[in-house]
Amino acid sequence: MRNLRYIVANWKMNLDARESKTLAQNLIEISNNLKQSELWLAPSFTALHAVAEILSPSRIKLGAQNVHSEIKGAYTGEISVNMLKEFSCTFAIIGHSERRHQFAESIELANKRGLGALAQGLGVIFCVGETLEEREQGRALAVIEAQLSTFLEKVPETRAALLIAYEPVWAIGTGKVASLEDIAQAHTMILKLCKSKSNLAFVPVLYGGSVTPENFDSILALPEVSGGLIGGASLEFKKLAKLVEIAETCKS
Ligand code: PGA
Repeated sequence: MRNLRYIVANWKMNLDARESKTLAQNLIEISNNLKQSELWLAPSFTALHAVAEILSPSRIKLGAQNVHSEIKGAYTGEISVNMLKEFSCTFAIIGHSERRHQFAESIELANKRGLGALAQGLGVIFCVGETLEEREQGRALAVIEAQLSTFLEKVPETRAALLIAYEPVWAIGTGKVASLEDIAQAHTMILKLCKSKSNLAFVPVLYGGSVTPENFDSILALPEVSGGLIGGASLEFKKLAKLVEIAETCKS
């Protein structure tokens, strides 16, 4: 079902340009020999230029943590697909729970951003996930479906990559990881939804939320999981290198 494994590092608002460049530089060597996995980096906007220079040429993919749907215009504080492409970005993270919850980005806005990016040929990692309250009320799967359905129905024909990330809000940056049963259940539902709502043959689904080198092995052993979207553990070279090694040597 899955062939490649993806390690996506979401550096959030943590590393400045100099720090991002150093970490990217250190990752190039380990990325040269990857056979069954890919390493994608999402630094802050202001670090993209420096990291793009370091990564060229390399097999590591560069992306941003958000993007606007329109080509250009009066959108103060936003960034366009073409601006990201200028720095060799091939993807953007859309609908991250920190955007949805801390910045009140609605389902409609996330859909617009994701669909706009794909239509303009930029890859998308589309994030979904429930809050603790929603899970406790037994609404986790319904919430994920609501976040994903309309987006999937409208996904345009494109050669740009589309990945979904399942990130339970309560697991992000908290040290609390979802149980393997909950991850398998959510991923199975997302894979089914991708089949029923879109023409896409296969969409890789990543898990995100307190992934570490200690828990990643067993998460990645689930056949429904194609990789990880990683925040905290991706900021340290040793941990990120270990996560890449796990993805590269994972047998299932
Ligand atoms: P975390 O973040 O690994 O620090 O929990 C994951 C994410 O927000 O993508």
